[in-house]
Parts: sequence; structure tokens; C-alpha cells
Amino acid sequence: MASSGSPTVREASAVSTATPQAADDFVLQLAGITKTFGPVVANHDVDFTLRRGEIHALVGENGAGKTTLMRILYGMYQPDAGSIRLGGREVTLKRPTDSIEHGIGMVHQHFMLVPGFTIAENVTLGSEPRKHGLFDNAAAKAALEEPMRKLGLSIDPDTITGTLNVATQQKLEIIKVLYRGANLIILDEPTAVLTPQETEELFELLKRLAAEGSSVIFISHKLREVFALADRITVLRNGETVETFEAADADPAMVVAAMTGRSDVNLGRVERDRPSDISAFTVEHLSTIKQGSDAALNAVSFQLRAGEVLGIAGVEGNGQASLAEALIGTRPLTAGQIRLGETQLESLSVNDRRAAGLSYVPEDRHLEGLPLNGTVAEGLAAGVLRRDTSPLGLGAAFTSKVRAWGTEMIRKYAIKTSGLDARNSTLSGGNQQKIVMARELEDEPECIILAQPTRGVDLGAIEFLYNQVAEATHRGCAVLLISADLDEILRLSDRVLVMFGGSIVAERSATATSREELGMYMMGIQQTEVSA
Ligand SMILES: Nc1ncnc2c1ncn2[C@@H]1O[C@H](COP(=O)(O)OP(=O)(O)OP(=O)(O)O)[C@@H](O)[C@H]1O
Ligand SMILES: [Mg+2]
Repeated sequence: MASSGSPTVREASAVSTATPQAADDFVLQLAGITKTFGPVVANHDVDFTLRRGEIHALVGENGAGKTTLMRILYGMYQPDAGSIRLGGREVTLKRPTDSIEHGIGMVHQHFMLVPGFTIAENVTLGSEPRKHGLFDNAAAKAALEEPMRKLGLSIDPDTITGTLNVATQQKLEIIKVLYRGANLIILDEPTAVLTPQETEELFELLKRLAAEGSSVIFISHKLREVFALADRITVLRNGETVETFEAADADPAMVVAAMTGRSDVNLGRVERDRPSDISAFTVEHLSTIKQGSDAALNAVSFQLRAGEVLGIAGVEGNGQASLAEALIGTRPLTAGQIRLGETQLESLSVNDRRAAGLSYVPEDRHLEGLPLNGTVAEGLAAGVLRRDTSPLGLGAAFTSKVRAWGTEMIRKYAIKTSGLDARNSTLSGGNQQKIVMARELEDEPECIILAQPTRGVDLGAIEFLYNQVAEATHRGCAVLLISADLDEILRLSDRVLVMFGGSIVAERSATATSREELGMYMMGIQQTEVSA
């Protein structure tokens, strides 16, 4: 349809200095894509188009089929039915290298960098420059200069990747895609691990790339981001295309309704009982040495009342990881006390702290939360196993107890899986997170530390998980909510502390502050006196 005589094209070229193009200059057309995994229909008759220079958001609940569709486009899965057209020509993408050759790049939901490799090795992996048959480090470094500058990353390319924080690793994934010359860029939940500031930077970059003619498919559960970035929004539900919106003509409520089939999803503050006056968890002058990329704790003190949610806001690397690890017992203290009810925790082991009533949802569900090659039953049962002191051990009665409990959790938390014996790796990201949350919350702890608890979880499931947290506080559980997501902090917390450089620099009531104010403290622009 690129006939240059049509009036629309003349109009378009009159206001633009770019090459004249028809309004629907599709770089990609997916039609009738169907993909099943055994009994699971991940994609059913899905249509999706992408225009040149467009940022197109792909949204939908956990397990709706977003990642599957993108993996088909990236040559990782073969569709059972349907066609893929690139630039109007039908193609078969048998493996990722086929897609890469067509200029498609993908930043995966879970990073695929090799931790022991250097930056230069990782980014060029698969298309390494070689000299006399050997990896040419100098050439790799030279080739990285331009994409690294584009992303504002000034790190020695000889740095070992495993030592970098998640935001930097995320940038490396994008640099890798740019290095390979991709002009159709897929980002599968790229902001799940980024701070608001880093997200802003990423968006600026994506807009720049789109303005230069690249096309972007962007998957996110955060509607704020979708509306800030996307030209169009396609909603998948249960593997099917529900609707494609022009972002300018849509509002969040319309998209939520298309995603969930509900019109009453709460996107605002969670209703909770007022916390009690009983002190439940006390931390005094907690200090650690510095380990890894996170700041050391510097005399951190706070108190949590029974039934209270205390939010910890901060840019990653300002001591939040140190704090969580110091509290659960995996990072040694140089000073300080931790008290849960009447129990002093600071010299207890990790297991004894758990037994005393402290639960933990770790930030990295893959490293600490959920073994990916384990089964759903095992993932859910870890809490039961911890609690069970019967001599039955792993006998048949115990197995049936575990299975009954697992079945109940799958139902209660609406975990989308083929069953108790499915491998955790086959679950969508959000559903893996639900397993960890179910296990830890249902342990009925006195105090729970939630680190980034809804990363990658869909809107409806977030509402559900927040209600479970509210229920835990109703039982008197004290909740320490460590999150890079300010919306999450503001929706759920009673009070908010901001961490900066390993110290607490501000304390606010969640209903009397704003994203902007917290952002200032997070950047270290403003400081207040904080009472212990
Ligand atoms: N390799 C696989 N084997 C078996 N089932 C799979 C596999 N990959 C995906 N599925 C199933 O296909 C469905 C769609 O999963 P997919 O990962 O595409 O969802 P998603 O929309 O990306 O969800 P999320 O928002 O949680 O990332 C889910 O039910 C999932 O369990
Ligand atoms: Mg996914």
C-alpha cells in the first residue's frame, strides 16, 4: 500500500522529513498464531501488528501468553499454526539466530547473561569478534563503545558480569541487542527490576530508538509505564487477543477491564485495619560491613507495631539488600540488635529466626526463593516442611498432607499451572512469585519481610496478594515492605522510611507523602532528622 500517489501519504510527507510512508507500514504481522504446551493453550489464534517506529505495549495477566508469543517471534518456539510476516514477507523462524538475522532482538524477562563472563564476552556472545580463531577482546571493546555510550554506561567492559547490580545487567541485555544491530526490539518486563529514575532513562532511550526508526514491543504490568510509552496497546487474555487500543484513545480503566474482564479492580490504596500500639519488631543501630554492590548499613533503627506495614523506599544499592540479609541472618552484623516480640534475634541462625516467627520473600525468586527445576508441590511445601515436627518425616501420610495443602494453595492463590508435579520453570513469572508469597504468608509469621513482592505480578493478582498481606496484618503480623516500586509502597504501607547510602534519611506517613517527595529523598537531595 505504499503507492506514493495517495493523499494520506502526501499529507504525511508534508509534515515529516522522513521517507514517505503509508500509515500502516507494518514491519511485523503475526496472524492466527496458536501454540500449545501439552494441555495448555498458551496462544490461540493471536493477531498482532507492529508499525515502523512504533512502541507497542503487550499486556495481559500472568500466563496470558505474552512471553510465549514473543518467544515465537524470537525463534525459540515454533507455532502450531499461524504466520509471521516481516516487512510483508512471510518467514519461518526456526531458531533465535534466524530472528537475529532479521534484525529482531529480545531482552528476556529473566536475564540470560553468563555471570562468570566479562561484559565484553557476554554482549558479543554468539557473534564474537575473533582474531586467529580466538576471542578478540580489543575489537569487542571497541564495538561496545557506541552502544554503551548510548545507554550512558561507563563501566570497564572487562568487569565480570556477575558482580553487577540488576539494573546494569538489564542495560547489558539492551546493549547486546543493539550490538547485534536489531531494529525490532522486544523487551519482556524490562522495568520490573528498575528504579523510577532508571525506568525514565530507559524510556528516553526507547523513544529515541523509535524516533530513529526502530520498532519496540514492550511488555509490562505497570499501566503507568504503558501509558507513558506506548503508541498502541494490545491486550491478551487466556492466550487470545482481546483488543488493540490506540493509547491516545484509551484510559487505564479500559485496559484493566480488557485484561481482567472485571471493572472493579482496585488500583489504589489497600483497605486495612489500623495497626495496634503493640511493638512487634524492633531494630536498633544495625550496622554491617559492605559486601557486593549494596551499601553497608549504618546504624539503622526502626520499630514495627503488630499489624503495621512499614515501607522501605530507596534506589537499589542504598542498603535495602543489606538490611534484608542482616535481618534474616545471612549477613553478619558489626553492631546492633534485632528483637521479635520477646526474642533477641541477632545471634540466632537463619533457621532459628524463622522458627521464632520471621518470614522472608526474597527479591530474587530464582536464586533464593524457588528452585526452578523443583516441582510446584515442593515449592509450596517448603513452609509445611519447616513447620512439621512429626516423626512421620517424609512418609506417605506426610506426602498426602503436603499434596492436599499444595492443591489448596493453587486454588486459593489462583496459581496457573498444569498441577502439583509441574516444574516451576514451566510457570509464568508472576505465577512463580505467587508460589513464594503463598508459602511465606501461609506460614503465619509474626513478622514478614517482603522484598519486591509483586515484581512481575499482574494487576489482579497484585490486588489479591495485597489483600492477603492485609489479612496477615489483621492477624497481627508486622510487615516490612522493601520495594523499588513507589506505587506499591504508597498503596500498602502505613509509614515509609527512605534509605540512602545505608542510612534512613526520611520517615513519612504513607498518606501524607507523594512519589515526588519520596523521589527527592531517594536521590539524596533532601534529608530530615529521623527519630529512632
Ligand atoms: N515451556 C513451557 N512448557 C509448558 N508450559 C508453558 C511453557 N511456557 C509457557 N507455558 C504456559 O503457557 C502459558 C502462557 O505463559 P507465558 O509465559 O507466555 O505467560 P505471560 O503472559 O508471559 O505471563 P507473565 O506475565 O506471568 O510473564 C502459561 O500457562 C504457562 O504456564
Ligand atoms: Mg512473561
